[in-house]
Amino acid sequence: MYLDFFRAMKTKIYVCTKGKHCKANGGKKIFNHLKIQEDLLEGQCNLEVKKSDCLGFCKHAPAISVSPMDKVYKCVDLKTCNEIIAKISSYR
Ligand code: FES
Repeated sequence: MYLDFFRAMKTKIYVCTKGKHCKANGGKKIFNHLKIQEDLLEGQCNLEVKKSDCLGFCKHAPAISVSPMDKVYKCVDLKTCNEIIAKISSYR
């Protein structure tokens, strides 16, 4: 039942691209990579990738937040992005 709840909702990934720490540590690169994944999964996965202001995890930049799970990922790299996308895809 818990999984059905997530399946019904749009998953939103907020990527900190505007905070100065994430901006300096590849936040934009992470955003661009996730946007490509969003485009590739269009129609298969209810996913939206959005830019965000500072998420409050500046010491662990770049940071992203995934909703509705309210999960924050810190020191994100492309490998982590792919793992997150794979996990989200598996919910669908
Ligand atoms: S600058 Fe990105 S979390 Fe603060």
